[in-house]
Amino acid sequence: MVQVTPFLLVLSLALMAHGLSERKCMLTGRWINDLGSNMTIGDLNRKGEFAGSYHTAVTATTNDIQVSPLQGSQHRTNQKSQPTFGFTVNWKFSDSITVFTGQCFVDDEGKEVLKTMWLLRSRVDNIKDDWKATRVGTNTFTRLHMQKE
Ligand code: BTN
Repeated sequence: MVQVTPFLLVLSLALMAHGLSERKCMLTGRWINDLGSNMTIGDLNRKGEFAGSYHTAVTATTNDIQVSPLQGSQHRTNQKSQPTFGFTVNWKFSDSITVFTGQCFVDDEGKEVLKTMWLLRSRVDNIKDDWKATRVGTNTFTRLHMQKE
């Protein structure tokens, strides 16, 4: 009986550590990235598809920024705890399109983080300008939590 207590203690610590590392990363919700851009992702359907909106903090144009729709999908819904995903933003205030691809991680502190890479395609008038029409970059998103009043 005396040895049971330390065994149970070790067992519960191991289970807790496992529980932390197995925490699922969920795409649904509000996110902010390293540029200060915000996005909202809606619920995923059975196929892992989702829609949402994107409010960029920056633009490659001189146009006034407008909130723009996004559409994407997550790989194999519910089967992995840190899923890969992709989405497209169809900018309402420019002729451009951005595609993002990334993975939803849970970091060492149990915080969700989206690591992404993107391609921003701008429209050019002439095929001769095609070489300079695509920008590439990375963005890291963290979850925006609801503010209590
Ligand atoms: C445009 O300038 O034509 C549309 C806006 C592009 C904003 C880009 S998309 C990649 C990067 N990440 C952001 O949050 N905003 C910029």
